[in-house]
Amino acid sequence: MAVRNSTTRARQRQLESLSPFELKDSLIKLAGENAEREAVTMLNAGRGNPNWIATEPREAFFLLGKFALAESLLAWDEWPGVGGMPAKPGIAERYGRFLKANRTEPGAELLGKSLTYATKTLGLDADAFVHEMADSVIGDNYPVPDRMLRCFEKIVHAYLVKEMCDGKAPRKPFDLFAVEGGTAAMCYLFDSCLVNGILKRGDKIAIMAPIFTPYLEIPKLDRYSFNVLELQASKTNEDGFHTWQYPDSELEKLADPSVKTLFLVNPSNPPSVMLSAKAVKKIAAVVKAKNPGLTIITDDVYGTFVNGFQSLMSVLPRNTLGVYSFSKYFGCTGWRLGVIAVNQDNIFDEKIAALPAAMKKKLNERYGTITLEPEKLRFVDRLVADSRQVALNHTAGLSLPQQTQMALFALFALTDTEDEYKRVCQGIIARRLHALTKGLKIPMPRDPDGAHYYVELDLLTWAERQYGAEFAKFMAANYEPVDVLFRLAENNSIVLLNGGGFDGPEWSVRVSMANLMMPAYEQIGAWLAEAVVDYKAEFDATQSSAPAKRAPVKPASAKRAPAKPASAKRAPAKPVSARQSTAEQSAARLSIPRPATPKTAATRRAPARTRG
Ligand SMILES: Cc1ncc(COP(=O)(O)O)c(C=O)c1O
Repeated sequence: MAVRNSTTRARQRQLESLSPFELKDSLIKLAGENAEREAVTMLNAGRGNPNWIATEPREAFFLLGKFALAESLLAWDEWPGVGGMPAKPGIAERYGRFLKANRTEPGAELLGKSLTYATKTLGLDADAFVHEMADSVIGDNYPVPDRMLRCFEKIVHAYLVKEMCDGKAPRKPFDLFAVEGGTAAMCYLFDSCLVNGILKRGDKIAIMAPIFTPYLEIPKLDRYSFNVLELQASKTNEDGFHTWQYPDSELEKLADPSVKTLFLVNPSNPPSVMLSAKAVKKIAAVVKAKNPGLTIITDDVYGTFVNGFQSLMSVLPRNTLGVYSFSKYFGCTGWRLGVIAVNQDNIFDEKIAALPAAMKKKLNERYGTITLEPEKLRFVDRLVADSRQVALNHTAGLSLPQQTQMALFALFALTDTEDEYKRVCQGIIARRLHALTKGLKIPMPRDPDGAHYYVELDLLTWAERQYGAEFAKFMAANYEPVDVLFRLAENNSIVLLNGGGFDGPEWSVRVSMANLMMPAYEQIGAWLAEAVVDYKAEFDATQSSAPAKRAPVKPASAKRAPAKPASAKRAPAKPVSARQSTAEQSAARLSIPRPATPKTAATRRAPARTRG
């Protein structure tokens, strides 16, 4: 059967200028049409939304709601359908009785463990903690303090120390601002940095590429117009495989004091690899010795998927604004839960204090309605005020039921002393990765720095390695780098994202390990391999006597579009045991040889809305 490809090269070129998250819509349309035509199921591996959820902290949330409603009626039960506001005195004792009476209910165990952890380990007052939980879960008050509720902040702080700082508490604590996911965190941070003169329009900023596209697109917006310097993850191992790490020469670019800010996603997206310990050390040394005023914004949403993760917010707390989102690890993208961490000892307050008098005067007027001493308003509190245009500061803050669920997610991880949940998540991903590589028939170098949430495959260098440089040249000359994505969508109903759109190698594709069942990944791997074989057949046809230099890889699958991909109907695979998942995790690191030329900062993309 001939390969279908109804999207012309000119059209592909146009679509390439979109964000990968927008280009995806065209692919979904093609994949959907094929799915209908061939009666197959669309396999959308473009989405970063996980297809699992953490159940226990949700069970705890709903059980807590039952307690809180009882407390409400205890406070005031005079009118039908109307309750009062939970009262603090004696609430911990009533909670203890409630948990005892409901001990067999789903969620009761976590609520009990959480109370012990909050009071014994964190030293929180029992009534204060239980009242905060009960009052918040029903949401009968504005968030006070607006930045984050007191007990919840301590809990999430402990969670960040455990998961983002490899258990090492910073010298001074972080102040946390609870926000509507990593997305809101980014908007608030960029905005407040600009308003407060921490970043200026046209500033030189460094971005560690490949990277989540909003970090490429926001700097280009007119109000920022940043001068972008990309640091490329161009390191390879001794076999020529991408490691997605940064050579020292790239990291040394941060020594230039005209570089004002560094943006990074760690572990990265799409390669999904954390900065090596060596790279972290190097960045810390360069910043301390050469550029101590460097502002760092690190987005560590995938940090929980690797063992021993240590964010730059832990290593360079004074310089770093940390962004963490609960979305991926707990399968709660719909909850919109994120947090911004600003260390109490930081350069941002110092930068504000050192602003020229005229700028300070302007800022004092801006914040003069919310404090009598606006000059002393800390950066983190400016962030909160700016998030509500200052004028609505008194109603700022993340909704309280959201903060409650966030605290329960954090408590779930904090009381999981054996990291059982982490190992299950890692196991789910490792099995999918194993299936993908089985389909692709390519090796999996071991990489303990890999989170494997996504896989970035560089098809051009794969083609070169498999069939030689002439063939790779033919591919590059005759097709757009996104051509393979259109083929896979139109012929196999598979949706992947273009790695070039993340300023990774142009011929790379991003496969999300997050959102399809295991068998689908073997199928995707096989069809990807087959697509390269198809290009090879087209290349051979252009050669007069066209003998293949090497035998083509025989994909694991039958020829394209079977009636129903195995994945379509199978029941979810059982989670692997902790031991299995660790073994698979350590075995799993997929990479293919180095790209010819990575894309430069001068990308074609226009600012576009992003999703997913
Ligand atoms: C690096 C990165 N940051 C943030 C987000 C979005 O996080 P949230 O759902 O919390 O807005 C994503 C989602 O894909 C991401 O990949």
